[in-house]
Amino acid sequence: MDLTYASLEEQFYARFNLTPVLFRSPGRINLIGEHTDYNDGFVMPAAIDKEIIFAMALSDEGTTAIHSINMNETVNIDLDRVAKTESPGWFNYLLGIVARLIENGYTIKPFKCSFGGNIPQGAGLSSSAALECGFIYGLNAVNGFGIDANDMIHIAQWSEHHYAGVKCGIMDQFASVMGRKDHVLLLDCRTFSHRYIPLQLGACEIILVDSKVKHSLASSAYNTRREECEEGVRILSKHFPAIHNLRDITPRSVRSHQSHFPDNVYKRCLYVTEEIERVQSAAQDLERGDLKTFGKKMIETHRGLSALYEVSCPELDFLVNQMVLNPNVIGARMMGGGFGGCVIAIVRSSARNEIEDEMYRKYSDRFSIVPDVYEVAIADGVSKIG
Ligand code: GLA
Repeated sequence: MDLTYASLEEQFYARFNLTPVLFRSPGRINLIGEHTDYNDGFVMPAAIDKEIIFAMALSDEGTTAIHSINMNETVNIDLDRVAKTESPGWFNYLLGIVARLIENGYTIKPFKCSFGGNIPQGAGLSSSAALECGFIYGLNAVNGFGIDANDMIHIAQWSEHHYAGVKCGIMDQFASVMGRKDHVLLLDCRTFSHRYIPLQLGACEIILVDSKVKHSLASSAYNTRREECEEGVRILSKHFPAIHNLRDITPRSVRSHQSHFPDNVYKRCLYVTEEIERVQSAAQDLERGDLKTFGKKMIETHRGLSALYEVSCPELDFLVNQMVLNPNVIGARMMGGGFGGCVIAIVRSSARNEIEDEMYRKYSDRFSIVPDVYEVAIADGVSKIG
């Protein structure tokens, strides 16, 4: 059963004998715009109703402790000596936040914190961004630091880069903080300007099919993709000296310089430049209510992620290929960093059960893994509870 706010509060009181303030921090989906954020492109994420909830209180005892309810682990922090840890893995996301705040001159008062939630891990729903963003939001509130949303987002991303070792873009943290109920965010990752687009799916809905695999190369391959994009920019800038990153170039220019690139770099650049264009026209489809065209673009994104960006895997390709055979599937694609996690699909609500049953059957037959299917609603970004 999911952890309730009341039970989190009770457990916190029983453990620390303090009355906490509660916060919630959501995971995210992304409709379209994958691996574009760190190339200064566009993304279209939304915060969801799967979240991590935090209980936090300052403590007079002078010691700081954090308890993970899901993992049933407690760790202590010496606020005068913060450093990366070998384990538990989840602790690093939080240590990075603490380290960065201290580096930026904030004095964190000793505190106690418990947290738990229902964001499946490794599913590509950004449980790590939810953890970072909820934690910094809570620390900001109980210490009265007055840090604004933009800085919180960047401190959370810093923690992921320096303490978790993933050179992620800004999408996940941005969505977790800035999400708005029933809306997707169209975010320009270069300027951080963003627009909320109401998500009106009419007779359709979003489902997530979790492949339940997470291939171990995920984070190292992520960093490699980022380097390949940077290499692409170095090559292109010999011909286009004014460019800063792949946002500044068209797929056409990439194609016309194909012979200058190593094959892998060419494919990465082509995918990213195409995807940046695709997101912008997909936003117009969505605003016009043209789900059919939008859905086609999701499928094109998947093809690009699989063949050009090479971050898919046989399990995700299988799910997408099977789903798109069904005429009631409007669009489907792998979501997030890749190498496992979820497929996001827009499906006709009337056929949802049939599609889910079909996926359970086909995927289990093929991979001997029973997939999970999640229904999600679009929620507000991080907030204080009550
Ligand atoms: C992960 C990263 C994001 C983004 C996606 C791919 O979720 O954290 O910044 O790059 O992968 O779109």
